[in-house]
Amino acid sequence: MINKIKVNAFAKNLVILSKPHILFGFAEKPFKFIANTISLSRWISNQDKIEFNDYFTFKRNHSKRYELYQFIHSKFNLEFKDINYYEFGVSGGDSFKWWVNNIKNENSRFFGFDTFEGLPENWGFFKKGDMANLIPTIDDNRTTFVKGLFQETLFDFIDNNNFDKSKPKIIHLDADIFSATLFVLTSIAKHLNKGDILFFDEYNVPNHEYSAFKIFRESFYIDFELIGAVNNYYQVAFMVK
Ligand SMILES: C[S@@+](CC[C@H](N)C(=O)[O-])C[C@H]1O[C@@H](n2cnc3c(N)ncnc32)[C@H](O)[C@@H]1O
Repeated sequence: MINKIKVNAFAKNLVILSKPHILFGFAEKPFKFIANTISLSRWISNQDKIEFNDYFTFKRNHSKRYELYQFIHSKFNLEFKDINYYEFGVSGGDSFKWWVNNIKNENSRFFGFDTFEGLPENWGFFKKGDMANLIPTIDDNRTTFVKGLFQETLFDFIDNNNFDKSKPKIIHLDADIFSATLFVLTSIAKHLNKGDILFFDEYNVPNHEYSAFKIFRESFYIDFELIGAVNNYYQVAFMVK
């Protein structure tokens, strides 16, 4: 055992000394993408049959996400339930407005977080600053928008007890990028309860929402159940078990 540890340490030191990034640095990004794609593919293959899932479809259509919302809304009788809805990544407010319009309970609250100055980093074909939008105007006093980077606003928001642990929650992760998704998940982890529902809007992007949620689950040992998916797992809903 001791010898094995020594050989292992020696080999590691050799690798570090040889500065592998000089020769193999070009492979870092593609290998990461390949590894995450393999992981995503395995995850998809391991999914049990669920009631609401269009896998596999050749017709990707972003509007199908409203069918997913409607399915979850009906399944859990959400129309008159007192819930809190938190959306991370609001932009023009399309998905946010759907939830405000479809939850009628007057005690429900809707919180939307965004820089409203667009993405803080490049994301695929999108550049930093893309998706900038004015804060949506919604004539409903149950809604609150929190402007700024999640990394700069969420801790204060939580410290002010705005993450009500006593209420059922719907949390919508639609920031697209890995860092934002992982930051939000880890920040809200201890406020999650059994039965809370999480939506992702770009789940099957291997290096971003998929990877962030995988790392989160593996690090926090929180179990989730997949309860709906559309567009080959592009938009998904999970429930905390
Ligand atoms: C795809 S858009 C949201 C779309 C919206 N949910 C809809 O349905 O129309 C992604 C948004 O996430 C926001 N975003 C990404 N990372 C963020 C971060 N770290 N802090 C705050 N906002 C962020 C961007 O500003 C962008 O407006």
